[in-house]
Amino acid sequence: MDHRLIIYQEAESTQDIAKVMALSGEPEGLAVMALNQTQGRGRSGRDWTSPPGKNLALSLILRPRIPAQELPLLGLLVGVAVAETVEAYGIPRAELRWPNDVLISGKKVAGILLEAGMLSNSARFVIVGVGLNVNSTASDFPRDLQESVTSLLMCTARQWDLEEAARKFLEHMETMYCRVYNEGPRFIPALWSARWAHQGRMLVSNGLIGVGQGINEDGSLILKTGEGQMQLVTSGIVEPI
Ligand code: BTN
Repeated sequence: MDHRLIIYQEAESTQDIAKVMALSGEPEGLAVMALNQTQGRGRSGRDWTSPPGKNLALSLILRPRIPAQELPLLGLLVGVAVAETVEAYGIPRAELRWPNDVLISGKKVAGILLEAGMLSNSARFVIVGVGLNVNSTASDFPRDLQESVTSLLMCTARQWDLEEAARKFLEHMETMYCRVYNEGPRFIPALWSARWAHQGRMLVSNGLIGVGQGINEDGSLILKTGEGQMQLVTSGIVEPI
């Protein structure tokens, strides 16, 4: 995958721009970023808001030749690539919250949204959306989020260039993506788990409570309930309690 980057001054959602391009046949590796994203989308139907010019909003077109059931593993892989990108800024450790939030000292620095266009049982394209908090300060976030989010600026006490952040991410992503083609996706759960913030913690997801055990080979989260049963979580939001 050779990556290319197109920079928009303003866009409603970079996901939508990338999707239109993918539908019109654009090869994989094209990334679009917007300096001002006005109607960003998050996971689970939530909004993703970001002050103009401060943070990275990027969507990358991929055309992975993997079956639909392996797509969650691709999402985990993106989380690892973003965590590596964050560490390239001298931040000692970036961790992951299932499925693919990136955390620094327990606070969210990046969110990832995967949207797939399907063709029978395989993905025709996947749009990988990355929202990375780069130059935001605490007061840029809504009051109820201020305690739980962070940015590269808040961790390093300096501003960073958004295009450079995009290029750094694309390089890490390209390396990861090549690895999948060379080795298949089996290495992903172990790589992801090494960065998991909640291993062995009591977690809640959709009313299900259990101890975080690990990542299944299909990318789902394994919870051990009070009755000792292993339950798989395949979607939704997982929080420690
Ligand atoms: C989440 O944590 O809920 C995922 C957030 C994903 C946000 C990014 S910003 C770039 C791309 N465009 C969007 O509209 N969303 C994703």
